[in-house]
Amino acid sequence: MASNDKISCAAELLRSGELVAFATETVYGLGADATNADAVAAVFEAKGRPQFNPLIIHVADVKAARRIVRFTKQADELAEQFWPGALTLVLPRTENCQVSFLASAGLSTLAVRIPSKESTHDFLQEAGVPVAAPSANKSGRVSPTEAAHVTEAFGNEISMILDDGSCPIGVESTVLDLTKSKPVILRHGGITLEEIKTVTGEVSQAKQSSPTIASPGMLSTHYATTAPLRLGIKTVFKDEALLAFGKKIPDHHGPMLNLSADRNLREAAANLFGMMRQLDKFKPKAIAAMPIPETGLGAAINDRLKRAASC
Ligand code: TXA
Ligand code: MG
Repeated sequence: MASNDKISCAAELLRSGELVAFATETVYGLGADATNADAVAAVFEAKGRPQFNPLIIHVADVKAARRIVRFTKQADELAEQFWPGALTLVLPRTENCQVSFLASAGLSTLAVRIPSKESTHDFLQEAGVPVAAPSANKSGRVSPTEAAHVTEAFGNEISMILDDGSCPIGVESTVLDLTKSKPVILRHGGITLEEIKTVTGEVSQAKQSSPTIASPGMLSTHYATTAPLRLGIKTVFKDEALLAFGKKIPDHHGPMLNLSADRNLREAAANLFGMMRQLDKFKPKAIAAMPIPETGLGAAINDRLKRAASC
């Protein structure tokens, strides 16, 4: 059992922008303050994900969940029945939701859950911020169910592991999308389809053609800007908005935001979705994006930009 001191220490580290791995009843998560885009970027960097997948946001209780997502009647009923527990609900963000858009890969919805382990609850309560956490394994590897698995994968790349023994369920939470006319299962997990059906009645299954990683955050239309995107630009045309990178910026008189003047890819990743949205609000003819190097998080940034450009 994690001691109170360890829990306080983990909460403090998380609030100050560090990554903390923690036990849940499903698998160990690699947590970051979801309101801190830079910390969220560090999660993607540590996992070595070539793409930005939307992450699950963990909160201590329903009150905290209501601050970040809008509940439907069905969500109320499911929360009542299965929370705390291994069910993740996808719901629309609230108007003043503070979760960074990087955590939801630019989507206007969030996947939220309340874990049931007591140490996880205490950690989340003490952190006082929503915690974005994918499973604490390197991309493409098996999910960790013991603290030792997390140490093997990350060593001292992360600030702390909140060790609370083994994870009793051992598979990830079930992800259920409640933003459609009927609930849709996006990922099978700790709570079964049959259990969910006792509350909701009919449930649709996500199509086979959208594998977990692609579901449904990877469907490009979900997070396309209204303005078309031009990538790898050297010159900017009239009535375009510029998404800049670095200090050598082409001549331009319209709206401009810089992903990172210092060419820092983590800062660029943290800014990406927010800046795309902000530039889109100017209703430019197009958003012209400067080239981003393909190294480290640059690969994920370019992947995202290409998807948005091809819509
Ligand atoms: O058991 C779990 O769920 C573990 C522990 C640590 O809580 N967490 C976990 O998180 O598995 P992650 O980030 O690896 O899983 C995210 C899943 C993906 O299938 C993703 O596509 C889906 O949730 N997801 C996240 N946000 C979404 C959104 N806004 N809309 C649809 N799906 C979303
Ligand atoms: Mg995972």
